[in-house]
Parts: sequence; structure tokens; C-alpha cells
Amino acid sequence: MGTRLLVFTSLLLRTLAQAPDTSLPNGYKYVDPLIGTANGGHVFPGATLPFGMAKAGADCTGDNQGGFASDGSNIVGFSHMHDSGTGGSPSLGLFPIFPQSGCPQGDINACKFTQQDRQIGRGSKVAARPGYFSLDLASGITAEMTVTNHTSMYRFTFPSNPTYSYYGPNGTVPSTPVTLNPVMLLELIDLPSSRSFGFINVDPSTGRMTGNGTFNPSFGVGSYKAYFCADWKGASIRSTGIWSNNRAGSSAMSMITLADGVDSPLPAGAYVQFNTPSSNDQILARVGMSFISSERACSNAENEIPGFDFDGTLGAAEQAWKNRLNTVHVNVTGVDSSFAKIFYSGVYRGMISPQDYTGENQLWSSSEPYYDSIYCGWDSFRSIHQLITLLDPETQTNIVRTLIDVYRHEGWLPDCRMSFCKGYTQGGSNADIILTDSYLKGIKNGVDWPTAYKAVLADAEKEPPNWDIEGRGGLQSWKTLHYIPTDDYDVLGTGTHTRSISRTVEYAYDDFCIAQLAQTFGAPGDYQKYLSRSGNWKNMFNPKQTSTVNGADTGFTGFLQPRYLNGTFGFQDPAFCSPLLNFTSCYLDPAGHETYEGSAWMYTFFVPQNMANLISTLGGATTFVKRLDYLHESGLLYIGDEQAFLPVYQYHYAGRPGKSAARIHAYIPSQFNTSLSGIAGNDDSGAMGSFVALSMMGIFPNPGQNVYFITPPFFSSVAITNKQTGKTATIKNTNFDAAYKNIYIQSAALNGKAYNKNWLTHEFFLEGGILELVLGPTESAWGTRMEDVPPSYDAGGAKVAGMEFGN
Ligand SMILES: *[C@@H]1O[C@H](CO)[C@@H](O)[C@H](O)[C@H]1NC(C)=O
Ligand SMILES: *[C@@H]1O[C@H](CO)[C@@H](O)[C@H](O)[C@H]1NC(C)=O
Ligand SMILES: *[C@@H]1O[C@H](CO)[C@@H](O)[C@H](O)[C@H]1NC(C)=O
Ligand SMILES: *[C@@H]1O[C@H](CO)[C@@H](O)[C@H](O)[C@H]1NC(C)=O
Ligand SMILES: *[C@@H]1O[C@H](CO)[C@@H](O)[C@H](O)[C@H]1NC(C)=O
Ligand SMILES: *[C@@H]1O[C@H](CO)[C@@H](O)[C@H](O)[C@H]1NC(C)=O
Ligand SMILES: *[C@@H]1O[C@H](CO)[C@@H](O)[C@H](O)[C@H]1NC(C)=O
Repeated sequence: MGTRLLVFTSLLLRTLAQAPDTSLPNGYKYVDPLIGTANGGHVFPGATLPFGMAKAGADCTGDNQGGFASDGSNIVGFSHMHDSGTGGSPSLGLFPIFPQSGCPQGDINACKFTQQDRQIGRGSKVAARPGYFSLDLASGITAEMTVTNHTSMYRFTFPSNPTYSYYGPNGTVPSTPVTLNPVMLLELIDLPSSRSFGFINVDPSTGRMTGNGTFNPSFGVGSYKAYFCADWKGASIRSTGIWSNNRAGSSAMSMITLADGVDSPLPAGAYVQFNTPSSNDQILARVGMSFISSERACSNAENEIPGFDFDGTLGAAEQAWKNRLNTVHVNVTGVDSSFAKIFYSGVYRGMISPQDYTGENQLWSSSEPYYDSIYCGWDSFRSIHQLITLLDPETQTNIVRTLIDVYRHEGWLPDCRMSFCKGYTQGGSNADIILTDSYLKGIKNGVDWPTAYKAVLADAEKEPPNWDIEGRGGLQSWKTLHYIPTDDYDVLGTGTHTRSISRTVEYAYDDFCIAQLAQTFGAPGDYQKYLSRSGNWKNMFNPKQTSTVNGADTGFTGFLQPRYLNGTFGFQDPAFCSPLLNFTSCYLDPAGHETYEGSAWMYTFFVPQNMANLISTLGGATTFVKRLDYLHESGLLYIGDEQAFLPVYQYHYAGRPGKSAARIHAYIPSQFNTSLSGIAGNDDSGAMGSFVALSMMGIFPNPGQNVYFITPPFFSSVAITNKQTGKTATIKNTNFDAAYKNIYIQSAALNGKAYNKNWLTHEFFLEGGILELVLGPTESAWGTRMEDVPPSYDAGGAKVAGMEFGN
């Protein structure tokens, strides 16, 4: 473990640390929130503040996990909170509002109310930038939106001489001209239609709508409550009332609606009809949100947007993003501008989630921060939290404190969490990794690390009654047999008995992370105990297993394989669940198999704690590199799933950092680019975004360790300012070549001194300094020696295992 203590010559660093380079542009103008809104990326492109609770966006009938998709489907509403990039059901999208210009003959019942009836085609324009989203509708209405932390604000511009429009089987049809008497409705529903209870009231004198609803989380258990407060401005009120199914009337001003458990929720809500707007043909809508009460929703809105000032609110949102993006500058000179767009859009998506619900916690009162939509730890531990730690350590501190507070009040660290509910665990207890990563990187402000240590010990030692939503299963076998048997006998708890291979390697890595914390917080012996358990990955490794792909022997021997209670190995084709063989057979359901969302071929590489031992186990560095090449080049690996991130950089452990650099250039821009479908897979709350951002800075992390793999940044220089220390760390490429022929490091100097290690620790970013890389067109000797590669940790613990280069 000695390497963690490796400290740079900090005095020298302090003198070299600089202020942010203001001659480089702010990243704001390069962000395109629409990247990843097509082809299943599920990115939320609407208006949000960094980590904001309010997320104003359009909701469509198509691929609507993030509300809106660039798929041409009809628009059914505009709602005020969303998640971004998730793979489960659509999430949030509560209490949508919807505009109509007027009703035929001025008859409110001639307007359209249900989503089925009111859906409308798109016009030709969509525009998105951080803090702002706008969209034209086929009805001639333009919808613009922006936000504060808890309030969404909309500006609807109506056509002066509107024609009533409706959506028919052949698309949107304008029919009779109508008088401009805008109708705004609000529906008591969410995107997944999960409402079990709803209440709404409309005030006939002001048009203010308040209410609440009970809804289900999109990838978890239980339910949550939400509250809203909608106000309008721009015209005097003609009438208000309640609608239900496709009827509306002004005799009632409130309603309660319950689920009968059989039918889908009744389409219902309130409406306000306006007289012709006095100027601009505009109606402004301000919708405050809360998870505490509708009074709180109203006060959030009144405090945050007192004067209905759309442009002022937008200006503040833009400034909030500029401030947040100001911690990383890249020199874009000479580089195709698409690379700056890919980069800053990735950084941006890494700062949409988790959402800051501090002060809005409906479950317990606490002075700790509360961030929600940790969606999910299995996706986010690999790069999202590392990006946040680097660019916004204060936010990562709040997230860490949230994780610990959830443990305090619910008894377990969250693995996946959304909307105050427990989400489904996909493998290991990933908060162990997130916490350790933050600890090693100096996250400490107000963090109760001794309680964090107790929390990770609960994951490692105590099996929860339902390990599908927290903790780990199979702990009896884990402690006695030291692997998760494929036919496990487990009477301690209940959970889905699949994924024995991937759970084994993930539990081993979780225990490795716990070992790192145990050095400081554990009882004597804890460190050794968890380090020893970190070697358990090998117990599912069948050294005799071969692999055939598409009928041909791959030539590689030794793969992770199913293993029974009696010690005998079973068989799962090592390529099974790769894109080459039954790609979709390993999801989180009882019909899943022994690996999760990927093949044993890929999971065999998941030994981040002891790559040296993995390399020698697989036959030495040369064979290892060939095997890693085969993983990337055969089609076995899908870069759109997060487990594919680390294998891009594992060449570093075999002394071939140049191959990692070449590999990342093969994926960016071919798989990550500026098109609407420009991310592989779902973004998963910014996982893909943070992967490209860290990769393009040339400092991808080994998550859970104080290790960044060095590869040349995609720009001639990158400067990162640490908000807590105020220091700037700059990475400069000499011989930078925008055509990316010179992507191989020939030599490096850290603060003027030769630097041969192919990895960095976080101290560089805390202390600031300059890392200069000299590039060339071919691999060099730089970073290739045994002593140059990142550390590996032997389960025996006596030594820091060196590289075992073998052949
Ligand atoms: C950006 O890079 C260009 C070309 O390499 C260089 O001339 C310029 O000085 C750099 N700008 C800054 C602010 O470092
Ligand atoms: C939003 O909340 C954050 C965190 O509390 C705060 O720092 C920020 O000033 C707020 N932003 C705005 C625009 O009010
Ligand atoms: C839809 O278009 C088809 C083919 O042009 C036409 O026959 C049909 O009448 C149209 N239906 C409506 C409701 O306009
Ligand atoms: C929603 O509001 C109604 C009316 O005030 C109230 O009866 C109900 O308890 C509220 N529901 C929740 C979950 O707060
Ligand atoms: C071990 O258990 C597996 C699964 O039940 C079984 O198929 C196998 O034959 C057993 N092996 C031995 C040696 O008993
Ligand atoms: C693999 O896919 C094939 C073809 O879709 C299917 O017939 C087979 O049942 C699948 N095998 C497993 C084990 O899921
Ligand atoms: C952009 O990325 C997407 C998603 O990975 C990919 O399908 C597409 O081919 C890429 N486009 C280009 C021009 O490389």
C-alpha cells in the first residue's frame, strides 16, 4: 500500500501552481445538450442547473426515459423534473403542463385533455444549451424553458391568429381558426404513469394550481410523494376548472384521485383558460416543486423567481453553468471544434446528476446534505464520481455525506437510489468503491469517515433480508468458500440467484476497497482480512477453460467460469452475453445468467486490485496484451456498457501505455461524437459523458484507487483548477498533432523533472503543477518498465506485487 503515501515534492509544486488560464474560453459555448437524445441514449436535454432538482423539459410519446428524444415523436407535455440517461423505465416527469391556443367556439370541452388526444407534432426548431431548452410545436406555439434549483419556468409564445390544431392519424391537422384564448392544463401524472394518489386544486381568482401525488420510482421499490405549485402570468383569467378523461368543467376547483389497482391512473388535472394576452402573445408559467409540501413548492417558486423574469432566470442559469465549467480549460486551437463539443458536453452531462434535494428530504430530518438519483452506483462508480471529485469536490463531498446519512437512517448504504427509494443492486456494493475513491482523494469536509467505515463493514459482513436492493447476498459462502457458488445455498437473505461470476469479482474488489479504508479506520487485522478476501476473484477462474468464437478457437486459455458448491466448475460459454453471443441474455431478472450485462471473457479482466497477478495468471504481458486486443477488436466488447471502460486502459499494467492511447482514439469519435446519437449505450446519469471527459483529459482513473492512467489529452493543453485548494494542474502536449498521429508519449516531465511512471495520483490535482508530455508517432520506452506501472496489491498483503512480465 506504500504507493498511496507517495507524495510529490509539494514545495516545488506550490510555487508552480497557477491561477486558471483565463485566456482559454469557457466551455459553456461548446456544450450541446442534444447529444445522446437519439438511438437510446436517453439523455435529458432540457434546462437544469448543475445537479439541480428542477429539470424543465418536453415529454414525448417516443423513447422518453429522459422526457424528450430526437425521434420525431409527438409532444404530450412539459414537466419539471427528470433523470438523464437511465436504462430502466422513464423516470419522474411529474405534473406536466400543456398549452393550447384556444378551443373551437370558445368551448372548453372542445379542447383536448388526455395525452392520447392532446399530443401534438413538432415544428421545425429545437434549441438547447445549458440552462435553456426550446421547441416549436405543430400548433404554432413555441415553448421555451429555464430553471432555478427547485422551480421550472416556461415561456409559451402563441400564434397571433391561431388555428385549432389536433393530432390525427395522418399527423397534426390545423382546422378551424380560433380566438387566442390560451388554455394551460396540468395533469396529475408522471412519465411512467405510476400515480397511486393525486390531489389538485386551482384557485379561480389567480389560476394558481397546487397539489400532490404519490408515485413509484423507475428502477426500484416503494413509492414517494411529490408536490407542486403552478402560477401563470401574461393574461387575465377567463375560466378555471378540473378536467377528467376528455371532459372539463368549471363547477369544481379541486379533485382527489385514487388508483383502483386495476385500471391505469385516470387522466385528470386542472386547467386555466385565459383571455387574449395583452402583449407578446405570451403566457409565462412558473412551477415550483417540493418533496415536502405544496406550501413549500409555492415558497420555492416565490423565493427563486419572484418577478416571473424569464430572461433574468435564464441569465442566472447560464452563469451558474459558466462558473461550474470554469474549473477545466482546454486549448482548442487547431483542433476540430467537434472535439471541444464532445468534451464539454461530456463534462456537462457528468454534472446533471445526482440531484441536490437538500432541504427537501421527505424521509428524515437531518442537517446533512441529501442528493438523490444515484442512478446507479454500478454505473457511476467507474467515472462519474471521479469527474465530480476532480472538477467539483464540494459536490462530491455532499454526495459522500449523503451516502453516509442514508446508511445512518436506513441501515445500509445505497447502491442504486432514485426518488427517495431503494433501487435494484446489479452486482457488488458499489458505495464501498465510491467512498474509498473519495477518501483517497482527500474528500473530507464534514465527512464522518468512521461511520463510513462502519457502513462498508455492514456491506461486507451482514447479509440484508433483501439483497436485491442493498448490501450483498451469499455472504455465508463468501466467508467460508470464498466465492459465490452458482448453486448457492443461502438462508440468510433473499435475492436473485444469478451473476455468480460477476458478483464474485465485484465483491472481491469491494473488499479490496474496504481494505484500503481499514488501514486507517479498521481494527488490527481488518486490513489483512479484506485484502485476503480481495483475492477471491481467482476462485472462479478455471485455468483450463478455452474459448471458441464464431466456430474458431480464440487461442486463449483460462476464463472465469461458474463454480458449484462442491467445488466443481460448470460451463458458461466465455463469449455468452457479449455482442457476439446472446447479447441480451444477462439482465437483472431471474432468467439471467452467471455474468451481468457482459461476458465471462470481459469479466475475466476485472481484477483492478491486482492486475499484476492477473497478467501472470493469463500467461504474461505479451499474451495479456494480445488477449486485451482480441477483446477490443473481435466484437466481444461493447463500449456502451460501463464495464468496458477500464479495459481501454488496462494496457498500462502490461507496460504498454501507448496501446491505451491508441485504443481510446479508436472509440472517440467513432462511438462518442457530436451527432444526436453520439453516445454508445445509455448515458446512465452521465457515465458515458464522464468517460469521454476524463479520457479526453488524458487521466482516466482506476476507480477506488488513487491512480490515474496517463494518456495524451486530446487538446494541446488541459488545465484543471481544484476549487478547494485553488491550485491549477496543467497537462501540456509538446508535438501535439490535431490529426492524432502523435498520440504516443516519448517522455514526460512533472514540474520540470523527468517522470517515467505511466500514472498519476490525485495529489497532482490538489497541489497543482505542470505535467509536460512529449509526443511522437510510435510507441516509445516511456512508462514501459516494471517500476513505471500502477501498483497491484497481492491478497497476501506482504508486498506490493510487482509486474510479472513473463514472456
Ligand atoms: C493554444 O495553443 C496554440 C497552438 O498550440 C498556442 O499558440 C496558444 O498560445 C495556446 N493558447 C494558450 C492560451 O495557451
Ligand atoms: C442552487 O443551489 C446551490 C446549492 O445550494 C447554490 O449554491 C446555488 O447558489 C443555487 N443556485 C441558484 C441559481 O440559486
Ligand atoms: C389520412 O390519409 C389517407 C391517405 O391520404 C386518407 O385516405 C385519409 O382520409 C386520411 N385520414 C384523415 C383522418 O385525414
Ligand atoms: C395531498 O393534498 C391533499 C389535500 O390537501 C391531502 O388530503 C393529502 O393528504 C395530500 N397528500 C400527501 C401525500 O401529502
Ligand atoms: C457438483 O455439483 C454440480 C451441480 O450440482 C454437479 O453437476 C456435479 O456433478 C457435482 N460434481 C461432483 C464431483 O459431485
Ligand atoms: C441464445 O439465443 C438463441 C437465439 O436467439 C436462443 O435460441 C437461445 O435460447 C439463447 N440461449 C440462451 C441460453 O439464452
Ligand atoms: C457517432 O456515435 C454513434 C454512437 O456510438 C455511432 O453509431 C456513429 O457511427 C458515430 N458517428 C460517426 C460519424 O462516427
